[in-house]
Amino acid sequence: MMGANPGFSTFDIAELDLAHLPPGFAEDPFPFYQRLLREAPVLRQPDGSYLISRHADLDRIYRDTQLFSSDKKQVFAPKFGAGSPLFTHHTTSLVFSDPPLHTRVRRIMTSALTPRAIARMEPGLVQAVDHLLNRMEDREEVDLIADFASIIPIQIIGNLLDVPMEERGPLRDWSLAILGALEPSLAAAELERGHRAVREFSAYLKGLIDRRRANPGDPETDVLTRLIAEEQGGQSEEGLTELELIQNCIFILNAGHETTTNLIGNGLALLHDHPDQKQALLDGPERIKSAVEEVLRFHSPNQLGNRQVTADVEIGGRTIAAGTNLHLMIGAANRDPEVFSEPDRFDITRIPNRHLAFAGGPHVCVGLSLARLEGQIALQHFLQRFPSFQILDGRKGGGRVRFRGYAHLPALIRQG
Ligand code: HEM
Repeated sequence: MMGANPGFSTFDIAELDLAHLPPGFAEDPFPFYQRLLREAPVLRQPDGSYLISRHADLDRIYRDTQLFSSDKKQVFAPKFGAGSPLFTHHTTSLVFSDPPLHTRVRRIMTSALTPRAIARMEPGLVQAVDHLLNRMEDREEVDLIADFASIIPIQIIGNLLDVPMEERGPLRDWSLAILGALEPSLAAAELERGHRAVREFSAYLKGLIDRRRANPGDPETDVLTRLIAEEQGGQSEEGLTELELIQNCIFILNAGHETTTNLIGNGLALLHDHPDQKQALLDGPERIKSAVEEVLRFHSPNQLGNRQVTADVEIGGRTIAAGTNLHLMIGAANRDPEVFSEPDRFDITRIPNRHLAFAGGPHVCVGLSLARLEGQIALQHFLQRFPSFQILDGRKGGGRVRFRGYAHLPALIRQG
């Protein structure tokens, strides 16, 4: 815990710089968040951008796409190189676009990810989770990330686009490399890994799309077949170009991997570390929905969002100029005492729970129902099967600031 960091009590929060974070921040940012909320909810960074921490400010920003833009061309050109693979990928993704492009692509995505398509995934999800639990049954020690949390989303997102089972191997590494490139500070090798991942992933998807064009799936259940039907020259004049189709498929595959892995991994770790809450869930399995919401609030898989101001605006009493970049501190807003009583208490019965783990407004996560379903089934079935699991020494955090989760969670699942 941060209390163990001797420098923290004397740390000047006004000096907090996302590009040069103090030691201990990635492992435990929460004491920093508390101080941001109390002392500097709108904090200027040395590069001129701002950290925004209050729930009410984030809520307002997420709702207003005119004043707060998601388009990242200006930010990503110097970071990735204009026209580079990472630049092309990220600036074509739904998440980093504004209306009208956003409205057009979002409509197509949501029409493909229908509640019916998601409801139909439930039996496959239960089967995949139970299969993994059966495989663990014979073992005493497992890694809750490698053997469980990271496998479920790959299977589910793979099923969503109907990626053949034997071709799913590289998906996770591509996804980690592409999302890893969004970290606030980046080494040259990580950048190159990201570019390579976009090139390889695009080439793979182009082949998959060509095959699916030749052999369409059932549009009721196969999201890729529905997206292909929306391509320009397809049924609608306002469809997707091939580039948009490929980059947004990469985006769906990425958006659904790391985040959901972290929801499941963080959930298992939190339940383990709060035995009273684990027991409350075992005693009342119907609490699983509010439990998953609390995991999303308490250790949000996505801790940071971004927007750019399009016209001079006042936030928290400060005037912020047009063109300024904002870092939205989701993890801090989800601990804001103005909205959550005892915000640092993990309480699986917390209702209401207006967390911003999926953001809000027009860009609110498209996959939130699927992510919730995956989290609920994974945690519920795991706990039923291994109620007294014990996480061992040697857990390892992902070391990232934007995406919060574990790289390794070694655990004993059966008591000898
Ligand atoms: C626990 C898991 C997940 C979390 C915490 C999460 C979080 C988020 C957040 C915070 C955003 C908004 C980003 C912004 O505008 O600043 C977002 C957008 C998005 N997410 Fe998720 N996500 C999760 C799972 C998924 C899954 C499973 C899918 C796909 C099936 C998905 C697809 C998307 C898409 C397409 C967007 C872009 C929406 C838009 O810009 O209009 N997400 N997600």
